[in-house]
Amino acid sequence: MRITGRTRLAGIMGWPVSHSRSPALHNFWLGEYGIDGVYVPLPVRPEQLRQALRALPALGFRGCNLTIPHKEAALSIVDRVDPLARRIGAVNTVIVAPDGALEGRNTDAFGFRENLNDCAPDWDPAAGGAVVFGAGGAARAVVAALIEARVPEIRLVNRTIGRAEILARDLAVPHGRVSAHPWAARDALLDGAGLLVNTTSLGMTGAPELEIDLSQLPTDAVVVDIVYVPLNTPLLVAARQRGHRTVDGLGMLLHQGRPGFEAWFGTPARVTRELRAAVLTTLVAR
Ligand SMILES: NC(=O)c1ccc[n+]([C@@H]2O[C@H](COP(=O)([O-])OP(=O)(O)OC[C@H]3O[C@@H](n4cnc5c(N)ncnc54)[C@H](OP(=O)(O)O)[C@@H]3O)[C@@H](O)[C@H]2O)c1
Repeated sequence: MRITGRTRLAGIMGWPVSHSRSPALHNFWLGEYGIDGVYVPLPVRPEQLRQALRALPALGFRGCNLTIPHKEAALSIVDRVDPLARRIGAVNTVIVAPDGALEGRNTDAFGFRENLNDCAPDWDPAAGGAVVFGAGGAARAVVAALIEARVPEIRLVNRTIGRAEILARDLAVPHGRVSAHPWAARDALLDGAGLLVNTTSLGMTGAPELEIDLSQLPTDAVVVDIVYVPLNTPLLVAARQRGHRTVDGLGMLLHQGRPGFEAWFGTPARVTRELRAAVLTTLVAR
């Protein structure tokens, strides 16, 4: 890699940030497209987020991604927030505009939808409702994507039902009917659904398993787990055994990077088998 005075700069701010796979993702694309650019991890303490974001234009950065714990705090720091990021309540991509202003976007909903299009192209949003487990940050992006796809009914199931109720209230729009349900009702709520999405951290390495009985889920329903460590979560394994089409979480992670990459480096990026293999190596290595 050759760094020159003209090298374009972007990165990811988080605290900690060493777990992030975004450097592997963006630097793969930079190499693939032969772009004079670099994408660096930026460990930024929460109390220094404002200072760090404000320094981006002065340092010549094109922008950055944000990860835990900065996504919500950035909403009140950037100069412009795109309406989807405002609705989701989190910014994961910051673009430095030509006038030096900071634009905040959220690309997780885009990543979720593009991954679903890629892995389950014949999934019909209008056929049956969707059941979403979880009501955290990721669920907000997933529900926003499902509303945009005009899924007729979305059943939100969360351990803390109040959080699901707030999400339903914040994101409900005329196209989508979003309802909140207690965690104990999850098995029965699968009846008649065309899509099941797990957005909880259950099933992730180090977290408890997601206990679920899939027997009421129609066999033509698509099952998505956005957890990507491990890639084959127990939910996906159980769903495949019942004959469901399944979608893992790595593709969402890869697709969410595309809009930022294009804005910073001026070239559209593609999610390929080679990219998936390269990022997968970083998941296995840790
Ligand atoms: N593939 C991707 O690109 C992508 C993107 C973002 C996130 N993710 C993954 O998505 C998962 C959630 O991320 P997040 O940012 O939404 O986290 P979060 O805001 O902390 O939300 C965690 C969710 O998991 C639920 N949960 C945690 N422990 C539980 C338990 N023991 N029983 C039942 N529910 C439990 C929480 O319920 P309560 O509300 O009751 O606490 C909440 O709904 C993580 O595994 C993350 O790695 C993947």
